[in-house]
Amino acid sequence: MTPSADRDLPDRERTPVPPTPDLSALPPDFLWGTATSAYQIEGAVAEDGRAPSIWDTFAQRPGTVDGGDTGDVACDHYHRWREDIALMRRLGTDAYRLSVAWPRVLPGGDGPVNAKGLDFYEQLVDGLLEAGITPSVTLYHWDLPQALQDRGGWPERDTAEAFAAYAAVVADRLGDRVSHWATLNEPLCSAWIGHLEGRMAPGLKDLTAAVRSSYHLLLGHGLATAAIRAAVPGAEVGIVTNHSPVHPASDNPADLGAARRMDGHTNRWWLDPLYGRGFPADMRDLYGVELPERPGDSAAIAAPLDWHGLNYYFPETVQDDPLGPVPHARSVRRPDVPRTGMDWEVDASGLETLLLRLTEDYGARRLYVTENGSSFPDTLGPDGTVDDPAREDYLLRHLAACAAAIRKGAPLAGYFAWSLLDNFEWAYGYDKRFGLVHVDYASQRRTIKSSGHRYAEIIRAHREQAARAA
Ligand code: IFM
Repeated sequence: MTPSADRDLPDRERTPVPPTPDLSALPPDFLWGTATSAYQIEGAVAEDGRAPSIWDTFAQRPGTVDGGDTGDVACDHYHRWREDIALMRRLGTDAYRLSVAWPRVLPGGDGPVNAKGLDFYEQLVDGLLEAGITPSVTLYHWDLPQALQDRGGWPERDTAEAFAAYAAVVADRLGDRVSHWATLNEPLCSAWIGHLEGRMAPGLKDLTAAVRSSYHLLLGHGLATAAIRAAVPGAEVGIVTNHSPVHPASDNPADLGAARRMDGHTNRWWLDPLYGRGFPADMRDLYGVELPERPGDSAAIAAPLDWHGLNYYFPETVQDDPLGPVPHARSVRRPDVPRTGMDWEVDASGLETLLLRLTEDYGARRLYVTENGSSFPDTLGPDGTVDDPAREDYLLRHLAACAAAIRKGAPLAGYFAWSLLDNFEWAYGYDKRFGLVHVDYASQRRTIKSSGHRYAEIIRAHREQAARAA
């Protein structure tokens, strides 16, 4: 049973938004969801036995996060999760993608389990199920326990093994209620942004650490996949990766080479090993870092996925940058293209391209768009509403791209809007708002934006269409 979404926007002048595109290609059982992650919304960082993660540490370091923001309070979801489930019901979504905070469950990274941490997720999952919303649980969305970082973090193999043990603990407890599991969220960001560019936790700029991390993240995914499957018969296990189609800035051979390298760095380095092709040779040569390979690792990493989650936001255009950092390709800002508040290019065709690449080149069996969304500087109007036509437009364009990919054969089974709530946008702090629901951080008051109402209408129309066709 899904409640209808009540529209609390009063009649008023609104910036025109295009009509909803033809979404009839979406299958009747297409899953409509929203997504969040633990550190971005929960707050309560020192409550009920949670220990610090690398993000707590990183955010405390001056100059790392805009405005000196931290996740200490965030959306206070740890205390307001019931209200947030009620919001999901108003949107009429089928599913909710959440992440579990590893340092809430295993404060030391391994060793003793914090019962209160597991209790929190059990309550949340039960609340979702009571509301008729399917939980989709991601085990790692960047909040490594600081205790493991102190022992070397992702550059060390022990972290991959600890991740599998943690996955088993969570799967043991929630496996009778949760069947949809993701191991990692966006390992690219953990490895490249966290260990090479230094813009995210743990804030390193070290190629060897970055490449070793990428290896151990994927190994951790493989080991955790096996652990979840052992604990939960019938579990549907996937991974969530983020990608961008990469275009050369010109036809000259140097820029073509740069695009090939950036595609290797952003796409092939992650997808090739997951789909049994091993790490791409050209990128191994480029990085020049010996991989900490052991017999059996490649097969573990390439364990068949039940589904693959794609996070898509923007495409990349690059030019050769021989003296710049690996992969020696510099992003070029194309003029005269629409952009979001993150300065990311709006190009929905990139989503269709990637869904088809996963289908045709890699043979993905089931796909979800596990994140897609846009940040704009939304404001709460004097009438208490939030009008965000640019986000509506972004949403509609990307849903049209989903339908187009399905018509061309992509086995796309669902879409999770990023994000349910405005939240802590990592190094950008709270100024960047991605939510379908506005959060006033001073009062913690939630307000569904016009994009949230539009999403609810789309979901309802799709259901009605599916019911008519049945
Ligand atoms: O907020 C992030 C999320 O945590 C991971 N994917 C991209 C989003 C927007 O930057």
